[in-house]
Amino acid sequence: MRFRIWPRSLAARTAVILLLGLAVVQGLGLTIHAFDRLDVQRLAQSRDLAIRVVSLYRTLVLTDPSHRATVLAELHRGPDLKAMLSDGPPDADLPEMPTPDQRLLRINMNVLPLGAPQLRWRELVIYGGHPWHTAVIGMHFPDGGWLDVTAELEPLRPWHSPTFLVAFLLMTAAAAALTLWAVRRMMAPLRVLANAAEVLGRDVNAPPLPEDGPSEIATAAIAFNTMAGRIRRFVQDRTELLTAIGHDLRTPITRLKLRAEFVEDEEQRTKILVDLEELEAMVSATLAFGRDARASEPVTALDLAELLRTILDDAADARPDLQDVLLYEGPAHLTIQARSLSLKRALANLVTNAVNYGGSATVRLKPPVNRLVEVQVEDSGPGIPAAELERVFEPFHRGEPSRNRETGGVGLGLAIARNILRAHGGDITLANRAEGGARATVTLPI
Ligand SMILES: Nc1ncnc2c1ncn2[C@@H]1O[C@H](COP(=O)(O)OP(=O)(O)OP(=O)(O)O)[C@@H](O)[C@H]1O
Ligand SMILES: [Mg+2]
Repeated sequence: MRFRIWPRSLAARTAVILLLGLAVVQGLGLTIHAFDRLDVQRLAQSRDLAIRVVSLYRTLVLTDPSHRATVLAELHRGPDLKAMLSDGPPDADLPEMPTPDQRLLRINMNVLPLGAPQLRWRELVIYGGHPWHTAVIGMHFPDGGWLDVTAELEPLRPWHSPTFLVAFLLMTAAAAALTLWAVRRMMAPLRVLANAAEVLGRDVNAPPLPEDGPSEIATAAIAFNTMAGRIRRFVQDRTELLTAIGHDLRTPITRLKLRAEFVEDEEQRTKILVDLEELEAMVSATLAFGRDARASEPVTALDLAELLRTILDDAADARPDLQDVLLYEGPAHLTIQARSLSLKRALANLVTNAVNYGGSATVRLKPPVNRLVEVQVEDSGPGIPAAELERVFEPFHRGEPSRNRETGGVGLGLAIARNILRAHGGDITLANRAEGGARATVTLPI
């Protein structure tokens, strides 16, 4: 997979932007800090040097000129400072010398571009500068002669501090941790919203989202709850309409049945009564479905493997002759979140169809992939004509035109099964097996 620099998730993107910002700010802070330390170190170095050189000069100026060399030899002061008496200013590229009567001490080193600290002094001192890490200073004695000093300056180390690095790293780590924590916290409501949408897909009666938190999140939650409410009402209205129609059809059917009794022609009367019975069965199935849909069963954890085995056992009880061809393949247990009664109704219809139209049923439960489980119900019957594979899901559509009461019901089974499975966030498809027979494939989120 290609390495992505720009992450996909909003949380990661926000974190990256904030961390980059933090890095820039820290970098700038570090630079300012370094310059500041540089200034302080330069100041300290030049002060220290000035004090040492001037005290050396002072001692020598107060000494008799003939003893200066001896005193200087005794006065020796640190390996970084070389001093000698000479007849002229140090042999360096010196700036222009001030005139002898200025009575000034100026230490102005090229290395230390601090400007010239002007120190009042009783006698004139001339000095020079030198580039990096070396200062060359010449001082004129009032009675003639020079003191030439070469000082090795320690390189400036703006970063050198035992605690600074630790403190800086700790501060950066703390700021980064705080940023990551804040981003996660801020993005959490988005995850809640996505979860709620996912749950609503499985269960229109899912509890509403809490409408609190920051105002944007609360607004989104309110909008989401309103939408969920509308969907719920829409589904309810449709189901109620369906049951109302089914209910109202019962009375005219009963009336027609009574009237049919008066039909003289024996054959016609039987046909009419069979039709009416079929009509009644359709209405009853419709009403049963409406009742189920309205009784909002709660979503609970259930063992799908157990449920499938129970359905097969029930089928075996109903058809003891087929006991040997009702098979279950798959794990012993697999827990999913579902409405157990309606799921049982949907899956039982598939097994019943396999038994009724295919004469056998093999139920196969596959382990979950991407949080989806697959259940296959196979038989070894004649299969379903290719043109019918989708149409059999239409309500009251039956492959067998004569509504034979022995091989099945009214043609609502698959329509109801699909309805139930889609309400769970899953689906169902039918296909013919290459070996013969039909295969119903059910997917369900776990
Ligand atoms: N496994 C199968 N093999 C062959 N045909 C099938 C199979 N399953 C379903 N069918 C065809 O699809 C039609 C519709 O099935 P569906 O389950 O919806 O209704 P039904 O079984 O006829 O009635 P009921 O409402 O009682 O389930 C069936 O009439 C049958 O012709
Ligand atoms: Mg059926």
